[in-house]
Amino acid sequence: MTQNDAPLQSFPDGQTVLSVRHWDDRLFSFRVTRPRSLRFRSGEFIMIGLPGNNGKPILRAYSIASPFWDEELEFYSIKVRDGPLTSRLQRIMPGESVIVKTKPTGTLVLDALLPGRRLWMISTGTGVAPFASLMREPETYEKFDKVILTQTCRQKSELAYGEDLADGLPDDPLVGEEATRKFVRYATTTREQSEQMGRITSLIETGELFDGLGVAGFDPAVDRVMICGSMALNLDMKKILEDRGFSEGANSKPGEYVVERAFVD
Ligand code: A2P
Repeated sequence: MTQNDAPLQSFPDGQTVLSVRHWDDRLFSFRVTRPRSLRFRSGEFIMIGLPGNNGKPILRAYSIASPFWDEELEFYSIKVRDGPLTSRLQRIMPGESVIVKTKPTGTLVLDALLPGRRLWMISTGTGVAPFASLMREPETYEKFDKVILTQTCRQKSELAYGEDLADGLPDDPLVGEEATRKFVRYATTTREQSEQMGRITSLIETGELFDGLGVAGFDPAVDRVMICGSMALNLDMKKILEDRGFSEGANSKPGEYVVERAFVD
């Protein structure tokens, strides 16, 4: 242990950083040891952070990007230059510590959805994180015949994390086989030329999304939708779904869609 490690290693609720990957100058992911007492459902979020200068920890809500069965925890984050937490968190190194609280919560869970045939996971930016967990969750494939992940970002480089996960899915020891048959990724950009451009909301309204995937449009009898992105996306998606007869679900009362904000901005 170096001298620099000492104060970091000693704070309460500290978990050791195992690896860090920088996807571009705005995004990074990292893996930490998992607290023994932490139980969570794939798709939930927890509070994580670093000690502040005045002794009070700086904590933010982060979706757990790894599935419930993983022995480690993964998180996916933006880097905000002046952000109280992410300006420092983006510099963490393996061996250092991050505070990880053990009270998971959230509505982007399979339990909050009624049975259905197709699961849509609609995300923008870092909103893909809870779906990184759910796409590696065996129950996702037990409950649905088709699992469609959409991610919309401004630029292509922001899609790399989701692309990497999707590319690795066929080799996943638990879900690989089923995911190969059932999982589809649909990635779009809005401010840089790419194979598929446009906001997901526009692609839904024009029908281009459904034509591109060769599936029928949203139907509350068969489709279940999880939404995780900016407030604006969430509100627009809610309207699209409610106009089509979908009702919002919660842990206490499952429904046809669920929504959660991608927190750190
Ligand atoms: P756009 O470039 O047209 O604003 P941000 O980086 O601002 O969080 O946005 C992430 C992605 O989400 C961008 O591609 C952005 O498109 C898109 N987006 C922002 N607001 C909405 C919305 N209300 N509906 C659909 N997509 C949105």
